[in-house]
Amino acid sequence: MARQIKIFDTTLRDGEQSPGCSMNLQEKIQMARQLELLKVDVIEAGFAIASSGDFTSVREIAKSIKNCTVASLARALPKDIDTAWEAVKYAKKPRIHTFIATSDIHMKYKLKMRPEEVLENAVHMVRYAKKYCEDIEFSAEDATRSNPEFLARLFDCVIKAGVTVINIPDTVGYTTPDEFYNFITTIREKSDYLDKVDISVHCHNDLGMAVANTLAAVKAGATQVECTINGIGERAGNAALEEIVMAMHTRKDLLDIYCNVDTKQIMRSSKLLSTITGVQVQPNKAIVGNNAFAHESGIHQHGVLEERTTYEIMTPESIGLSQNKMVLGKHSGRHAFEDRLKALGYALSKEEIMKAFQQFKELADKKKMIYDEDIEAIITRNTIIYPE
Ligand code: KIV
Ligand code: ZN
Repeated sequence: MARQIKIFDTTLRDGEQSPGCSMNLQEKIQMARQLELLKVDVIEAGFAIASSGDFTSVREIAKSIKNCTVASLARALPKDIDTAWEAVKYAKKPRIHTFIATSDIHMKYKLKMRPEEVLENAVHMVRYAKKYCEDIEFSAEDATRSNPEFLARLFDCVIKAGVTVINIPDTVGYTTPDEFYNFITTIREKSDYLDKVDISVHCHNDLGMAVANTLAAVKAGATQVECTINGIGERAGNAALEEIVMAMHTRKDLLDIYCNVDTKQIMRSSKLLSTITGVQVQPNKAIVGNNAFAHESGIHQHGVLEERTTYEIMTPESIGLSQNKMVLGKHSGRHAFEDRLKALGYALSKEEIMKAFQQFKELADKKKMIYDEDIEAIITRNTIIYPE
């Protein structure tokens, strides 16, 4: 039977940490409401202690969202946890998400703590957070560069202290799909308690493998995935929500998993984020890029016009677009050209089409894109026939 995977959206926290992507209170609330429409399971609304603006956003999102868990990030420090709780306590389903680094490199240079101190502190802070909130997520920052034995022991201790979700982040986007699969499998084998709670993964995209790593971790038993709209986030970003969800959707046959996301809200969510931040996605971005459902070459256009599935593995409608795009350019063939003439309302004879097509090809060699106005100009110039 297909397994449900929970979608934890961190656009408003890790995503917002990306240069140029900061949002004001109204924009964050607007985005949170769109995430609720998208039907994600968890919205990480912010890092409440980071600034008074962050605190207010987390609090207002907690008040306004009804159908998703609302989480606030907190370091494993009492003042962070107090502040996180002060902000998320208004949520119908609040979560405190606390974290501490567990790799040798982070413990030595950043925390200046020994592993045993880190473990004690983590347990202590989970107990502290548990006084406030039932739902506690614990993240082992830089997990993929941490010792798996140490992680398994630490996870068992924090689970016994009350953690409900264990997050295994690839903080610096360092791992690969095979390695991450084995890493999660090993930790699950070494831990006595990990399978009693949700196992989450949080992958960064430094080597361009965040989505692949996330799906490998799901295969190894992860039950929650952390991601952002358009893949925004620190440095090269986080795993892109739309890519993970559409991979689940399109390859249900292979992955045998599902999630609650309403895929028809994907495009709207992506566009809203770009409009708010002013950061556009690249045209060839999977799922939400301008060209993701566009066809220019004659062979592809002919194929799609005959039978869509020849070159489309998902429908544009499934992500909330009204249709695919036939881009007319120098690679386009007569089929697509004729199709566009019909859509524009021209009924031409074979000879007229051939003449117009020849002129279109000449123009396409000089111009990057051919617009409807260009076609209309060709027809009018020849005064072949007027639209019906
Ligand atoms: O990348 C990371 O490790 C994080 C944690 C705070 C979850 O964002
Ligand atoms: Zn992160």
